Amino acid sequence: MKVANVEIIPGLYYMGVNERHAQRFENLWPLPHGVAYNAYLILDEKVALLDTVCLPQSDKFIEGVLSKMDNFDIDYLITLHVEPDHSGAYEEIIARYPNITLVGNKITKRMLTNMYKLKNFNFLEVKDGDTLNLGSRTLRFITTPNCHWPESMMAYDETNQVLFSQDVFGGFATLNGRIFDDEMCYECVEDETRRYYSNIVGKHSCHAQKALQKIENLPIKVICPVHGNVWRKNTQKIISEYKKWANYQTEKGVVIAFGSMYGSTEATADILARFLVEEGISEVKVYDLSNTHASYVISDMWKYRGLILAAPTYNCDILPVVRNYMNLLDIFQPQKHILSYFTTYGWASVAHKMMKEWAEQSSFEVVDAGEKVDINGTAGPADIEKLRKLAKVFAERLHELENTSDEQVQCPLEENKECDFPL
Ligand code: FEO
Repeated sequence: MKVANVEIIPGLYYMGVNERHAQRFENLWPLPHGVAYNAYLILDEKVALLDTVCLPQSDKFIEGVLSKMDNFDIDYLITLHVEPDHSGAYEEIIARYPNITLVGNKITKRMLTNMYKLKNFNFLEVKDGDTLNLGSRTLRFITTPNCHWPESMMAYDETNQVLFSQDVFGGFATLNGRIFDDEMCYECVEDETRRYYSNIVGKHSCHAQKALQKIENLPIKVICPVHGNVWRKNTQKIISEYKKWANYQTEKGVVIAFGSMYGSTEATADILARFLVEEGISEVKVYDLSNTHASYVISDMWKYRGLILAAPTYNCDILPVVRNYMNLLDIFQPQKHILSYFTTYGWASVAHKMMKEWAEQSSFEVVDAGEKVDINGTAGPADIEKLRKLAKVFAERLHELENTSDEQVQCPLEENKECDFPL
């Protein structure tokens, strides 16, 4: 079975595959609509393949490549991102085309060697700004470290103004025959594109900012990412969305994320949601963390400035689904968000103290309504008045922030050299 081999511009072919079998991306993030692994082939005086696909899909991909390559050799395998969803077919490609030259940066080579134990392969090391002429077109390499891995880089076809952006500008979901963004509505891909950004690239938003600065002045006609659709209509729109996401620019709205065993915390979350709407917050999303995967809640949190957590005490701790979400927030470190919380308990109030301690050390600005909202059993009249006050104070802060200038986040937020790739 062959892949689509769609010509994007003369001499540039889409060689991606759709993944409908994997349940989760990185074995973490749900894929209810699948995902596309995109690769690209340039047929010029020199032939270049840009990235490949995930190993389980590599047979289909290789067949597609062979169908185009009957009379050609491949000169270059350009490695924009080593993560296995894009390098899964490398061993097979190298075996079939032993003279091929892999192109990457200093880190690429070490990562490939570590991951696949490749030996004796031709490697052309490039640095930021280096160019590679393929005949009628020239590629310029733009290093974009940590967008998403340290070796990540883009390639810019200077001749045709095509940007090969690897994970950046990518999204979840299969393409279903629609390769280009003008073949579908932007709103149809918006949520899965933001979920991809927030869950996969969002942690590295400071690096994303730097990457966006590097491409700021490039004329771009087409963007070819390694997931999601090829952008040729909404190129400026997706770049501007990325600028917003990378700088944690949000809309006025609130995500209420709760865990609830028997419904008391959920009912209280609904009461609070109503009070927020009455305070003029029209965008309020309420999520049960037991039923909605955290990746969707993170994605909406990247859209809206306010987050309210709610959890009962469970086994002398916070209910684990909420604890798990808090752990993700510790990893993602979202900036420029405001936070509040309420808790419930049956006989021993523990969650509130734990939530308070966590919130105070988190990356959030904590909105304090002045009264602890820690409900014993179900909410009574006094609790409901506290919730009303919490909604009022929280909404006031959101309205206030809407009218303040949106300052650039100072990057790097935090140096964690332990997590850097050792050079
Ligand atoms: Fe699509 Fe970072 O892998």
